[in-house]
Amino acid sequence: MAGCIYAARHEKREVDKLEKNKTILVLKNLTKEFPGVRAVSDASLEIKTGEVHSIVGGNGAGKSTLMKMLAGVYAYDTFAGTIELNGEKCEFKNILEAQKKGIAMIPQDLNMMEELSVAENLFLDKYPVKHGMVDYRTMYSETQRIIDEFGLHVSPQTKVKEIGIAQKQLIVIARAMYNDVKVLLLDEPTATLSDKECKILFQKVDEMKKKNIACIYISHRLEEVKEISDVITVMRDGEIVGTAPNVDMDEKRIVSLMVGRDVDEVYPEHDRTPEEVILSIKNVTIKDPRTENKLVVDHVSFDVRKGEILSLYGLVGAGRSETALAMLGAYNGAVTCEMELKGKPIRILSPSDAVKYKIGYLPEDRKRQGVVDIASVGHNITMSSLSELSRYSVLNHEKEREMIQDVIQRLAIKTPTPETLVRNMSGGNAQKCVLGRWIAANSEILILDEATQGIDVEAKTQIYHIMDELAKSGKAIIFISSDLSEVMGISDRILTMRHGKVVNITDGKRAQRNKILWEATVGNKEE
Ligand SMILES: Nc1ncnc2c1ncn2[C@@H]1O[C@H](COP(=O)(O)OP(=O)(O)OP(=O)(O)O)[C@@H](O)[C@H]1O
Ligand SMILES: [Mg+2]
Repeated sequence: MAGCIYAARHEKREVDKLEKNKTILVLKNLTKEFPGVRAVSDASLEIKTGEVHSIVGGNGAGKSTLMKMLAGVYAYDTFAGTIELNGEKCEFKNILEAQKKGIAMIPQDLNMMEELSVAENLFLDKYPVKHGMVDYRTMYSETQRIIDEFGLHVSPQTKVKEIGIAQKQLIVIARAMYNDVKVLLLDEPTATLSDKECKILFQKVDEMKKKNIACIYISHRLEEVKEISDVITVMRDGEIVGTAPNVDMDEKRIVSLMVGRDVDEVYPEHDRTPEEVILSIKNVTIKDPRTENKLVVDHVSFDVRKGEILSLYGLVGAGRSETALAMLGAYNGAVTCEMELKGKPIRILSPSDAVKYKIGYLPEDRKRQGVVDIASVGHNITMSSLSELSRYSVLNHEKEREMIQDVIQRLAIKTPTPETLVRNMSGGNAQKCVLGRWIAANSEILILDEATQGIDVEAKTQIYHIMDELAKSGKAIIFISSDLSEVMGISDRILTMRHGKVVNITDGKRAQRNKILWEATVGNKEE
């Protein structure tokens, strides 16, 4: 046998033959229900070859569910309606059957074999074989080719658990592209990618378009949707509420379709007056575990005040998340970090120390570090408040219920019941549960790392207002974000980082967009 790679290449020529602008996928009256929710309701849609068709909608609108129905994650007999691919009715029982027909999905929650290498993850079910054995040489050399093509900085033998989330995302994308696709489903692929990595992805999407592959693209970033789509479909509460060519869908129309009404002001008009310093960070320094004499974070010092929103702005990789992890004693490696809480030195060595000092943390990689998805919404919310809810180690269930209800209401978490498992919730709602945990725990200091990533416009607005309220009630918020618009919209002060160093700290109200962008990308003159 010549190995599966060659078989795959052979089929690729067939894919090249796809004709442009032909209807390839027809969805008719698709409906999918879960206990207590109609996730997708009577959805009909046509997708054409060589088209990027974006689907946008609020958290819980049903976008991922619809993708999972197309990709065979949900077997055809678990939902109503029909799917036709090239005029042929599809009855997929599982993902493999959909893949064989050329429908591949890059899921919102990455599913990778953490203990296996990059190469093994790329080839998963189709290892190249020679003389009845896995042909590692071919597998590694092909992997290296894909790695180079995608500009990844890993080796084929690196274990997936050792690489960052952005790199993983690109590997999953490479994996799907490598298996010959006719229809590629991308469920929020850019949520965790840097600008540079997004560019690589968009190039790949463009290449696919040229091969007349159809791409269905889900994203909460409307700018990006406007940039790459040919057609835009909007979903709300499980229904398709509008489909139109990109030129006919401006952002205002998209948002009002998503929300069901016009939306005006996203950021709260804030008039906060921060008080005394609550937390001082001094000389956070982290050595690069991979390169000698290189620092990931280089003597970073700053104060945060009660009632203040301090943003840490910078490009992905500037060292902001690492600084947060170092503060929380959670960075895996050589770290120096001095901290004073209300003027007294403290040292945090574990998550329980952070809870003791009333410091809440919403991590960037929520799937791995934040949300416990096999637990219920309620448990996720109360997880860090159990001692407060208990007396002599007995949990007060009444108080617990009240706390859960209060958080669900304040954050407008969409869930059928508090007992619903977080893994059955939409991405954005799962995220709100982690934020809710720290609000429930009455944290005095909140460190929020990319808190609005994957969150829809309406929920984002709610989160900005909640942050404003929390700050007004005297909480200190350290807000890590790569979205300069939100940083400018919400902050009292903006600390810009670049290559592990603090470049500048600017007053939020007087900040100038171009100056901050310049500082984050090029640095300042004194450097
Ligand atoms: N496995 C499941 N069990 C129960 N309910 C589910 C399940 N999967 C999704 N849901 C519910 O179906 C609805 C649609 O969820 P879906 O994940 O499709 O939304 P989404 O549009 O992808 O949202 P997001 O933008 O937050 O990712 C939500 O109310 C969600 O809680
Ligand atoms: Mg989703």
